Amino acid sequence: MTIGIIDSGLGGYSIYHALHKAYPKAAFHFLADQRNAPYGNKTAEEIKSIAHKNIAWFKSNGINEIVIACNTMNAVALDTLKTDFPDIKFHDVVYPTVKQLEHLKLSKILVVATRLTIQSDIYARTIQSLLPNIKVTSIALPDLVQKIEGLNSIDEITGYIESNLCEKDLLNDGLILGCTHYPLAQDSFESIFKQRIIDSIQVMVELFKDKKFEEGESHCFTTKDEAYAKHQVHQLFQIEQEFTKIEV
Ligand code: DGL
Repeated sequence: MTIGIIDSGLGGYSIYHALHKAYPKAAFHFLADQRNAPYGNKTAEEIKSIAHKNIAWFKSNGINEIVIACNTMNAVALDTLKTDFPDIKFHDVVYPTVKQLEHLKLSKILVVATRLTIQSDIYARTIQSLLPNIKVTSIALPDLVQKIEGLNSIDEITGYIESNLCEKDLLNDGLILGCTHYPLAQDSFESIFKQRIIDSIQVMVELFKDKKFEEGESHCFTTKDEAYAKHQVHQLFQIEQEFTKIEV
């Protein structure tokens, strides 16, 4: 069975790339909904409607297991998706990301994510429910996804992140990258934040470690411009990745 992976763009590609590398014979269909990126600056209602259309596309392609490789979609649309598509198995990124904190002795966590993810408070709520003694500070970085999708320079990205964080934020002992795009700015984050940085990539690979995959081919799709998607992946991953443009 093919496994679907959905995001607004390159963040989901990072998860697709890690999964495909770990399980090369498994079939993954990754959809980069770049026409609607960035998701994080839209309303929750818009994201619910976009999510519904994207999941319907996977379903019409016979896919009934999907990784929501997007924190924003998880934060505002996952419950609705589970009601609308009861026969689809969804994998969320937020809970496994937070679960990693159980093995780390951290007391003060900074969460950075899109505006909609921060507004939903999903990280603070999930951390509090698992580890009530951790103090959480949440900060939105509303322009970071566009800067990553736009292949902005590392200096511009570092400057943007710095301008949104104050000295006190840097005193936390852990930083959660609560958007799947943000590991693509890892070097910038590492140059600013000197404590532990936690992301969602490896933990999503671990999630499938006992799965018996059926063999099949993997494909990448975009809702925007297949040539530009290929160029982005080439620039950021040094891979020749073909994309097929689709209408959702
Ligand atoms: N990568 C997604 C996330 O984890 C979506 C970012 C966006 O399009 O704003 O939230």
